Amino acid sequence: MTRIVLATRNPGKIAELERILDGIDVVGLAAFPDAPDVPETEPTFEGNALLKARAIAAHTGLPSVADDSGLCVDALNGMPGVLSARWSGRFGDATGDKDTANLRLVLDQLGDVADGRRGAAFVCAAALVVPANGVRGAVEHTVEGRMRGTVLRAPRGTGGFGYDPVFLPDGETRTTAEMAPEEKDAISHRGKAFRALAGLLPDALAAAGHV
Ligand code: IMP
Repeated sequence: MTRIVLATRNPGKIAELERILDGIDVVGLAAFPDAPDVPETEPTFEGNALLKARAIAAHTGLPSVADDSGLCVDALNGMPGVLSARWSGRFGDATGDKDTANLRLVLDQLGDVADGRRGAAFVCAAALVVPANGVRGAVEHTVEGRMRGTVLRAPRGTGGFGYDPVFLPDGETRTTAEMAPEEKDAISHRGKAFRALAGLLPDALAAAGHV
């Protein structure tokens, strides 16, 4: 069975990719305790995803997938973007609940923004790096998935994580924190990116000499 490493310690992400990549053994970084911790230093989701996938493929010698994602708010010129996880900085660290501090900060920043101008997108870049096997060369792909929606004025729902309680996807009546995980996967930025990568995987494995 083909084995793929997903550059994450989040069991939820591993389960999601496993559901999408039927018949492929997906392992996370817990299986590689010495794997490098790769800082997200690039200015784009795509750059960070590729950085992580390359580092994990080099470390493990196995086909590797990494993702980077965030919330891009129109009225904030696309921010927090790649800074989504760290938006509230040291203040958020000090509160002990960084996700809530990040979400509160975005709500404050949008306090005076009218209802019709509160558009945003969750964006996810996913990268696949298949190391060279034998005489064939390595193969790399990056894809992007987006979910458009609106930033609400107050949190709703207890599911999900991060900015989910204030994100209402276009065409939906519930926030992504009010949906079951599978419902969110079906429309989410990460689900779309992972499904796009899944479609590229068979050719990528063959081109790099893995099957
Ligand atoms: P990462 O891709 O795991 O580095 O996530 C970056 C950050 O973006 C997270 O910490 C969240 O703040 C935000 N984010 C990314 N995807 C989602 C999502 O599906 N729901 C809520 N917040 C998200």
